[in-house]
Amino acid sequence: MTQTRKILVTSALPYANGNIHLGHMVEHIQTDIWVRFQKSRGHECYYVCADDTHGTPVMLAAQKQGVTPEAMIAQVRESHLADFTGFGIGYDNYYSTHSPENAEFSREIYLKLKANGKIATRTIEQLYDPEKNLFLPDRFVKGECPKCHAKDQYGDNCEVCGTTYSPTELIHPYSAISGATPVLKESEHFFFKLGECADFLKQWTSGNSTLANGAIQPHLQAEALNKMNEWLKDDNLSDWDISRDAPYFGFEIPDAPGKYFYVWLDAPIGYMASFKNLCDRIGVNFNDWFKADSEAELYHFIGKDILYFHALFWPATLHYSQHRIPTGVFAHGFLTVDGQKMSKSRGTFITARSYLEQGLNPEWMRYYFAAKLNSKIEDLDLNLGDFIARVNSDLVGKYINIAARAAGFIAKRFDGCLLSVNDSGLLRDLMSQSETIARDFELREYARALRDVMALADVVNEYVDANKPWELAKQPEQNERLHLVCSELINAFRILTVYLSPVLPELAKKAAVFLNIPELIWADSTSVLPAGHVIHNYVHLMQRVEQQQVDDLIAANKQSIQPPVQAVAPSYEPIAPIASFDDFMKIDLRVAQVLACDKVEGSSKLLKFRVDLGFEQRTIFSGIAASYPEPGKLVGRKVIVVANFASRKMAKFGLSEGMITSASGPDHQLFLLDVDSGAEPGMRVG
Ligand code: MSP
Ligand code: ZN
Repeated sequence: MTQTRKILVTSALPYANGNIHLGHMVEHIQTDIWVRFQKSRGHECYYVCADDTHGTPVMLAAQKQGVTPEAMIAQVRESHLADFTGFGIGYDNYYSTHSPENAEFSREIYLKLKANGKIATRTIEQLYDPEKNLFLPDRFVKGECPKCHAKDQYGDNCEVCGTTYSPTELIHPYSAISGATPVLKESEHFFFKLGECADFLKQWTSGNSTLANGAIQPHLQAEALNKMNEWLKDDNLSDWDISRDAPYFGFEIPDAPGKYFYVWLDAPIGYMASFKNLCDRIGVNFNDWFKADSEAELYHFIGKDILYFHALFWPATLHYSQHRIPTGVFAHGFLTVDGQKMSKSRGTFITARSYLEQGLNPEWMRYYFAAKLNSKIEDLDLNLGDFIARVNSDLVGKYINIAARAAGFIAKRFDGCLLSVNDSGLLRDLMSQSETIARDFELREYARALRDVMALADVVNEYVDANKPWELAKQPEQNERLHLVCSELINAFRILTVYLSPVLPELAKKAAVFLNIPELIWADSTSVLPAGHVIHNYVHLMQRVEQQQVDDLIAANKQSIQPPVQAVAPSYEPIAPIASFDDFMKIDLRVAQVLACDKVEGSSKLLKFRVDLGFEQRTIFSGIAASYPEPGKLVGRKVIVVANFASRKMAKFGLSEGMITSASGPDHQLFLLDVDSGAEPGMRVG
C-alpha cells in the first residue's frame, strides 16, 4: 500500500450574489471525485470551500433587497450548500469568508506582508458616483466604447468590439447604479508590490513540488504555465491594488479607517479560514498544514478565468507571509451547452436548483461530466442528446444491467448466497486494472478512467452473452454452473462499483446495501466476496433518463427576455468587406415553400425541412431548432433558400440540399426571412 498522504483540497469560492449553476457544478464535481478517490485510497484528505461574500456587488444586492449583507449572505450560503449537497458534493467544511477566522488571517497576513516591505500606498484617481457617494468598480461604470462607439458598454471592456480599456476612457460614462455622471476623485490605495515578487513567481509557476511519497507534482498545467509566462515575461507585473474605500462590505484594513481589503485579497485566505474552522472542530493541527515547510499537499481546483489570482497573487500572498505554497493549481475550462455559452433565453443557463427540483438524478450529471473531464484546460460541452444517450447506454445499459441480470437468479434459486469465485479469470481481468484506473483518477483523467471501466463492463456483458444464464436456468443439470456465473457477475458488479464510486457515491452506497457489505474502498477492487456471502434482494439502482425530463429542465430554465430597464443599444456585427454585384450573383437565392418541418431525432439543434422550389423539392437541414420550438407551425410559409450550394452530408442524419437563410440576433436567436405575398416558389432573389 502507498504511504498515507495529507491532502487539502479546495474548489473556488462561489460569489454570494449568484445562483449555483451547472458551470459551478463542473468544478465541484471534478473536485469531489478527486477527493472521494483520495479518501477511498486511505489518505488523510480534507475538502473545504466557502461562499465568497465580500465586495460591492454583494453590498448593493443586499441594499436592493432591503436586508443587511450579513442576513443576505447567511441565507445564500444555506441555499448554495443545499444545492451542492444535492449533487453529492461532500465538503468537510463549507464556510463563509465573512468569518472571524478569515478576519484574523487576513489581518495577520496583511501585517506580515507589510512587515516584509511588500505593501505600498499610492494616491489614485477613480470614478466616483456623486449621488450614491461611492467609488465605482469597473463593472459599475457604463458608457460608449472609445473605439467602436457602441453604447452602454461596461467600464473594463467592450462586448461589441472586444477592446479592453479603463473606465475613464469611456465616452459619456454613467453610473450603472444611479445613472449619474461619475466624477474623478482621488483616494489613497494600498498596493501589494507584486513587481518585487517576479523572481519568486517565475520559480513557483514553472516549478514542482516533491510529494512525501516521492512523486513530482508540477504547480501548474502546461497551458497555465504558458499563460503565466506571458504575464511574467517582460517583468511588467504591476503592483496589485488590494484596498477599497468605504462604503464597502468586507474587512477593514488595520490602522486605516475607511479602507477595506479588496474582496480578492481575503477570498483565497477564506480557504485557510474554512480549514481552520474545520481543524478546530475535529482536532487537527492547522499549523502542520500551513507552516512554510509543511509536508501536507494543498490543491486548488479553479476555472480558467481566475487563474491569474491563483497562480500569481495567491502564491505570492502565502510565500511573503511565511506560509506554505500551493502544491498544485488545477484549472478547468468552461461549460457550454449544446456547443454554446449558457443562455438564459435558450434555457441552457441551468441552475443546480432547477435540476434537483425537476427530479433529475444528480449522478447522471456527475457521470456525464466525469466522462468528459480530463486534466487539461478545455471547455466542456454538455450536449443534451449525448447526455441522455451516454447515461442510458453506458451507465444503465452496461453497468447497472450486470447486477440486474444476475441478482434475480441468486435470490430465487440460491437464497442470495454466493459461490467461491477465486478461480474466475473474468474477475482477475477486472482486478488487474485497479492501479491503471487509480492512476487516471489521480491524474484527473476521468474520461480515460471511465472509458476503461466501460470497456470492462463490455467484457462482463460479453461474458453474460456467452454463458446465457437464462438458458442455464432452464437446465437443471446446469444449476451449479448458473450459480457460479451469477456469483461471478455479482462480484464483477462489485469491482466495477469500486471503480465508479468516486463518481457515483450515492449509487455506491445503495450497491453496498444490496451487496450486504460495508461501504467500498479502493482496496476492495482487488478482492472478491467470500464463498457463502449472502446478498440482499435487488432493488433497481438507477433509472434511465427520459427526453421529456431534459425538455422540462430546459423549459424550467427558460426566461423570457424582459426589455431591460435602461434601453441597451443593440450590438451589430461589423460590415463584411466590399463585394461586387458579380460576387453577389454567385449565390443563387430562391423563394421556397415549406412542405414539412420536423425535429431531428438525436439533435437538439437541427430541424429537417422539405421545401418546394417550384421546379423541384428538396430536403434541407437547418440549425434553428432552438429558435423554432414548434416546427410544425412553419409548414406552408415561404423562406429564402441558397439553391446552389453543393449538397452536404449531415453526420448521421442525411443529405442537406441547400441552406435556409435567417437573420441572427444577439444571443444567437435566429429569424427566418419572409417574402411578400405574390412571390412564388422558385423565383430568384437578387
Ligand atoms: N468568488 C470567485 C472565486 C474566489 S476563489 C478564492 C469566483 N466566483 S464565481 O462564482 O464567479 O465562480 C466560481 C467558480 O466557478 C470559478 O472557478 C469559475 O471559473 C467557475 N465557473 C463559473 N462559471 C463557469 C462555467 N460556465 N463553467 C465552468 N466553471 C465556471 O470566481
Ligand atoms: Zn467597442
